[in-house]
Amino acid sequence: MQIQNQTALVTGASSGVGRRVAERLAERGANLAILGRDAARLEETAAAATAAGAKVVMLPGDIADEAYVRRAFAEAEAHLGPPEIVVNCAGISLPERMTVETIEPTRWDEMIATNVRGTYLTCHLAVGGMKARGRGAIVNIGSTAAHVAKPGVSAYAASKFAVRALTDALIEECLGTGVRVALVSAGPINSPIWDKRPAGAPEPMPRENMLQPDDMADAVLWLIERPDRVRCDEILLRPVGP
Ligand SMILES: NC(=O)c1ccc[n+]([C@@H]2O[C@H](COP(=O)([O-])OP(=O)(O)OC[C@H]3O[C@@H](n4cnc5c(N)ncnc54)[C@H](OP(=O)(O)O)[C@@H]3O)[C@@H](O)[C@H]2O)c1
Repeated sequence: MQIQNQTALVTGASSGVGRRVAERLAERGANLAILGRDAARLEETAAAATAAGAKVVMLPGDIADEAYVRRAFAEAEAHLGPPEIVVNCAGISLPERMTVETIEPTRWDEMIATNVRGTYLTCHLAVGGMKARGRGAIVNIGSTAAHVAKPGVSAYAASKFAVRALTDALIEECLGTGVRVALVSAGPINSPIWDKRPAGAPEPMPRENMLQPDDMADAVLWLIERPDRVRCDEILLRPVGP
């Protein structure tokens, strides 16, 4: 579908991939509802998107909170019209490796709530209206951790396997409705997520060799803009290597 003049709701828009996706959608003429918890950092995204000509509604809150996500959809619709594009970028990873034995239940729950429940809630609230209007695009951000689960990342891998499963089911549920659903699964991306690690914790490769947020935005925009006849369930993006 075309991006110009559409309403796009982007989660995780205060940082990293979500911020760049929001900015790139704004540059292509979308109006934006931007979600994330940190209002000050959302402001920075809003400023860039507004400078690119977009109307922007900032909606700070916790993506796992159903009441908040419902309010965010209502506010977005009231100010910009119903979201025709939803990009789910909100997510957390573990700051350091934690085995199944060592990860605390609260930490496990936070991972599943943010990455899985958050993605489910926006899909749940968006898809009915999109189907009724016969058009829409939902892109979820997954991970290579949903392809091969490695030791020490069980919670993150479990959450991303769930996002992949949710996305696969939703793709099938939307076939023939005019609603496109897809996943971008990625290896390491140079985003502030890596800054949350303890000082000195190893990173898989130099930041400049990782994927860049613009590489993710390229994939997201490409998926949204495919003609209706094209089905692409997943783009798997990885850096070439260290
Ligand atoms: N970076 C990588 O290497 C990598 C690799 C593969 C996949 N991914 C995935 O890419 C997506 C984007 O991550 P990123 O790399 O851009 O990381 P990031 O820079 O840390 O951004 C994460 C975003 O998620 C938001 N967020 C986190 N918890 C939230 C909550 N409870 N409620 C609302 N928003 C929340 C953050 O906003 P606030 O802090 O303002 O709440 C922030 O905007 C995530 O799904 C991540 O799993 C990342």
